[in-house]
This record gives sequence, structure tokens and C-alpha cells, in this order.
Amino acid sequence: MLKRRADGWATRFGLIMAMAGNAVGLGNFLRFPGKAAPFGGAFMVPYFIALALVGIPLMWMEWTIGRHGGSYDHGSAPGMFHRLWPNRISKYLGIFGVLLPAMVGVYYVYIESWSLGYAWQTATGAYWGQTSNEEMGEVFTNYLGIDGGFFSFSPQAYIFFLITFAVNIFVFSRGIERGIEIVARYCMPTLLVLGGILAVRVLTLPPVEGRTISDGLAQIWRIDDWTVLLKSDVWIAASGQIFFTLSVGLGMIHTYASYLKKKEDITLSGLASCGTNEFVEVILGSTIAIPAAVVFFGVTQTQIIAEQGTFALGFFALPVIFQQMPGGQFFGTLWFVLLFLAGLTSSMAMFTPLLVFLEDELQLTRRQGVFCVGVGIFVLMQPIILFMHHGLVDELDYWMGEFGLVLFVAIETVLFAWIYGMDKGWKEMHLGAELQVPRIFYYIMKYVTPVFTVSLVVWWFYDSFIDQVFMRGVDPASQPYLWLARLMMLGMAAFLIFGVWYAWKTHPKFFDSADTPEEEEVL
Ligand code: ALA
Repeated sequence: MLKRRADGWATRFGLIMAMAGNAVGLGNFLRFPGKAAPFGGAFMVPYFIALALVGIPLMWMEWTIGRHGGSYDHGSAPGMFHRLWPNRISKYLGIFGVLLPAMVGVYYVYIESWSLGYAWQTATGAYWGQTSNEEMGEVFTNYLGIDGGFFSFSPQAYIFFLITFAVNIFVFSRGIERGIEIVARYCMPTLLVLGGILAVRVLTLPPVEGRTISDGLAQIWRIDDWTVLLKSDVWIAASGQIFFTLSVGLGMIHTYASYLKKKEDITLSGLASCGTNEFVEVILGSTIAIPAAVVFFGVTQTQIIAEQGTFALGFFALPVIFQQMPGGQFFGTLWFVLLFLAGLTSSMAMFTPLLVFLEDELQLTRRQGVFCVGVGIFVLMQPIILFMHHGLVDELDYWMGEFGLVLFVAIETVLFAWIYGMDKGWKEMHLGAELQVPRIFYYIMKYVTPVFTVSLVVWWFYDSFIDQVFMRGVDPASQPYLWLARLMMLGMAAFLIFGVWYAWKTHPKFFDSADTPEEEEVL
């Protein structure tokens, strides 16, 4: 007799906060400003178009796929895809929905731990006196222990990593209702308050050398150069940002949604969580880093800083700015606590598909599952930390957080809209719905979203796939380390392929029973 899932969401508020927390993350405060700043206000045009044509539809699709799979006791994408399309390959396609979040989580948690470390450093004034971007860059490499030696290791960064890792494991080991939901119910409102305080602080900054906060806001909200929209880069960057920020295409939403009851609303709750994420990103996220940097450094310098990488604005520029404003130590600490909370509410969702896969499909107990995930992920994180300076994070991010994500999104949209069928999908999505979605979205989900996402995959192949595969332009000294990152991804994929094969071989009836457990109970 296979065990049934007993966990679930206790309250609707908790569900929406957890789903919003799943989406609100480092992407909202670090990745978004980094992607938007180089393009100026023109970025927001493709951003909102991608939100309407792919972001929101995908959110509804993933909630629907998740709730549908969950009604058959499948909490991760392999079982869910099998229930949408009972073909022998569908469950293997679903592996992406476990592989991607787990492997993104492997580096995401380390970055999240930097926020905690920097919150501590800011509160104690450890880097006070380093008042230029270059000096803050050095503080950053010292913090990570990148000093030209074989390992990039610093005891301080490692301690904060251990704390962050332990918090993550503790939360998700307690499950949905007693772990993830409780944390989300407290962390999300706290995060909104901290974001609000920081946004007001930035909006009330006095002019610096004639540059005002209006100039800063204009960098996001005013389009000076419409020709930017003719370049493919801005469309790709904006679409990628929409996927990443909403956590779609990563398998994380599916797993949370699998804990919904069969007729629990999807349309309104999905939109509410999406709206919360967009409020945090577009209103709070866009009001902090870029406007503050423009006031202090000017537009050109801000763009140069943003192009240095995802962390440059948040970890170099903002600490410089905090040192120049009254109460800067307080506001700086709030900023890094905010980043940590945003990271935590996302990272705890990243390992959940793997844990739930082990529990639901391989029938491990919670304790066994937590042990396997904890040890496995911990081991995988060590090369990331120790060889950080060789670009392992970028390698994993390309394959898992960018290319893999786009591929998974294309697979699931085709599966949902064309193979399962949009008519069935639309009906399933509206079971128990508190909001009737306008009919236009039926057509968007049927035609526009799949075509858009498949085109993105084609573009990725055309633009960078070959260069990335052959590591063109990569320092030969770093190449063995990038192979190590690839081995890690392939190793995890091989484990999941074996796991799916084994699960379907050992208890096939579970996967082929026609009735959902809820229907069985009723009979
Ligand atoms: N959606 C999460 C973020 O924005 C992954 O960081």
C-alpha cells in the first residue's frame, strides 16, 4: 500500500504568501535592476508584454498542472506530466522540474548567505570607510576569500553559508503547513515593510551634484531611446527576467500547487501571488537600487556598474551609498536582511520538488528524504564555494537558470496547451475558480505562449548554445572546473532518470490508476 500525502496549506493567506515568497527573491532586488539598468526605460516595454503574454499564463498553467498532479498524489513534475500525457516519455520530460530548482538552489543558497553575511558586516560597520565601488569590490572578494589561491574560501563566508543552509533544511524538513507556510506568513509581510521603508528612504534622498531622485526614477520609467526595442537582447533579457522572477519554468510552483485541494481556487490566488511579486519587483525593487545609484553616481556610471554583474549594484554600489547617507548603517542592514528574507522564501521552495519526489515517487519517509536531500545538496555546494572564482555559478546559471528554464517552459506549454489540450486545461483551471479569466487568455495560452516559448528556445540555440557547449572565450585554466559543474548537473539528472524508471517499475499501478485519491475516498 502506497502512502498518501497528508500535508497541505492551512490558510489561504499562507498559501498566497508562500507562493508570492516562492516568486519574490534575489531576482526582484538584484537581478531585476541589473538587467533593467543597461537598457533604461525601454526595458519595461518587453517586460510588461512578456508578463501578460507568458508570465501570467504560465503562472496559471503551473498552478493547474500542480493541482491536477497533486490530486493523484504527485507532487513533482514527472508524475504531473505523466498525468497530463500518459506517454512513456512524459515522466522523463518532467525531470527538468526537479533538476532545475535543485541545481539553481545549489548556488542560490550560497548567494543568499552573502546577504546574511553582509547584514552582519553592515550592522557591525566592518567595511565602513571603504567608500568607492572599487574598494567595495575588494571587500567582496575578501569576503568570499578569492585571493589568487587554489580555493576561494573564507571562514566567515563559510559560517554564514552553514547558518543559511541549516535554516533552509530546517524549514523544509517541517513540511508545508508547519514549515514553509509559517515562515512565509511572517517573512513576507516583514519583507514588504522593509522594502517600503527603504523605498521611502531612497525617494526622500536629497540631490547630489544636481542629480535628483526624479532622474533616478526616469532611468526606469522614461523611454529616451525607442530604438533599443529593435534589439533582440532587450526582449530576451526581459522575458528571462519574467520567468526567473515569477519562478515559472523551475518546477517550484508545481510542487506548492500540488498541495491545493481539488476544487480550491487557482485563478484568483495565482493572480494575487503574481501581483504581489510584481508589486515587490516593479514598485519596491525598481525604487531602491537603480534610482539611488543614479543619484549618487549618475546614469552612465550606474549602467557601467550594472554591467559588471548581478551583484555589483546590490553589493558594491549600495553599500557605498549607505555610507554617505544619515542612518546609513541602519538602512544598509535593513537592505541585506531584506535580501536574505527574499532569498529564503525562494530557496526553501527550490529543494521541495526534490524532497517531494523522493517522498511521493520513491516512497521515502520525510526523515529519509530530508537526510538524502540535505547530504546530497551539501556535497554539491562544496565545489561551488571552493572554486567560485572559476565561474561555476555562471555555468550552472546558464544551463539551469536560463537555457534549462526556457526549455522546460517550452515543454510544459506545449504539453498543457496542445497535448493535454487547451479545452481540458481551461476547464481544469476554472474548477472552483473565484475569477473567470477573460476568454482572450484562452487564445493567448493556446497560441501565443507556446509559440513565444518555443521561439525562445530556438533563439537560445542560435545565439549562445554552441559557444557555451564548447566554452568559447573561457579561460583554459577554468575549463576543468566548468566540466565539474557539468558533471554535477549530469549526475543529478542521471539520478533522477534512474529514480523515475525505478518508481514506475516498482509500483506501476500507482501511476496508472484512473481515480484520484479524493475520488477513491468518496466512493
Ligand atoms: N523567483 C525567484 C527570484 O526572483 C527565484 O529570485
